[in-house]
Amino acid sequence: MTIAKLTETDVRGKRVFIRADLNVPQDEAGNITEDTRIRASLPSIRYCLENGASAVMVTSHLGRPAEGTVRAEDTLMPVAVRLGQLLERPVRLVPDWVDGGFEAHEGEVLLLENCRCNVGEKKDDEALARKMAALCDIYVNDAFGTAHRAEATTHAMARFAPVACAGVLMGAEIDALTRATSNPARPLVAIVGGAKVSSKLTILRTLAEKVDQLIVGGGIANTFLLASGKRIGQSLAETDLVKEAQAIIDMMKERGAEVPLPVDVVVADELSALARANRISIDEVGAHDRILDVGPKTAARLADIIAHAGTIVWNGPVGVFEYDQFAGGTKMLASAIAHSSAFCIAGGGDTLAAIAKFDIANDVGYISTGGGAFLEFLEGKTLPAIAALER
Ligand code: 3PG
Repeated sequence: MTIAKLTETDVRGKRVFIRADLNVPQDEAGNITEDTRIRASLPSIRYCLENGASAVMVTSHLGRPAEGTVRAEDTLMPVAVRLGQLLERPVRLVPDWVDGGFEAHEGEVLLLENCRCNVGEKKDDEALARKMAALCDIYVNDAFGTAHRAEATTHAMARFAPVACAGVLMGAEIDALTRATSNPARPLVAIVGGAKVSSKLTILRTLAEKVDQLIVGGGIANTFLLASGKRIGQSLAETDLVKEAQAIIDMMKERGAEVPLPVDVVVADELSALARANRISIDEVGAHDRILDVGPKTAARLADIIAHAGTIVWNGPVGVFEYDQFAGGTKMLASAIAHSSAFCIAGGGDTLAAIAKFDIANDVGYISTGGGAFLEFLEGKTLPAIAALER
């Protein structure tokens, strides 16, 4: 992959336009509840400020607004405030910016209002992309989290800007994901958890062809348990995908690889903070039980697999870790990852929440800011924003 990098680009006296992914979660009052993506965008912005760019313009989408208006919930104003605090300098929010007409003052960062509110953004419109490209000398795409979308600021704009390059975050994400997927240190272990096989079917199939061990968790594991002939009571599973799960188990077996399934589990008859948890063997699951975590024997086995891994790809928890009585499996997994010498790349909202809950952020090789983009990269798909930079 040959992609021009911001850090190898001379920005002195140049107008730089950075497409970041500042799509952060907010509460009902609009307060930012988690700011990792804003923090992750700072290095590119700082590089431009420190190297004498004449204007530093940053934009992002926030949510999935309708084009043509900016409603109160669409505005990047809370992001502007947070960004200003982190940068310790003024960040001015610019509304209606597509046609220019705004000035940049030295040392100031301009945050261009929610780019997804501009008509034509989602359709990757060429006329819109040309207008936006005319605002800058250098276009930087630092929005890895949105790299799977072909939109005007993530895709078409790269064609019309005089210079198009990858920001610091985009470069780091590509490097880390490439390290985990091309020629990774073996054994390569993937952990794929979450509620549904259906939402992760492509990634499961792709990983089944590459990894040495495919650890499945949550509702996904239940569907695999059904495929291996186990009873799962009232647990969440997708009966229509049992054959798919069986095919994945068979495919792995043929390659001498493995899907290590739970030998014991934590069950309850309801999913609630007050639910009473029971640890039982997988063969003891009753008709009314719901499997909500892996049991201690399984967790120990998974920890052992992780301890011997060369590379770990982690997307999704193995239990309902939000409730303490069902958090044991994911906690043990997190601890094994933290102590492992393997290169671990983790991504996805639930995974990031687990990393935060078990406080292992400093012990994970790379934490991706991508959700959908992270999965699509692992699936081997060409991400439009990266392809645009390669061109
Ligand atoms: C994300 O949150 O995964 C990215 O910001 C992409 O958002 P989108 O799914 O609305 O395109």
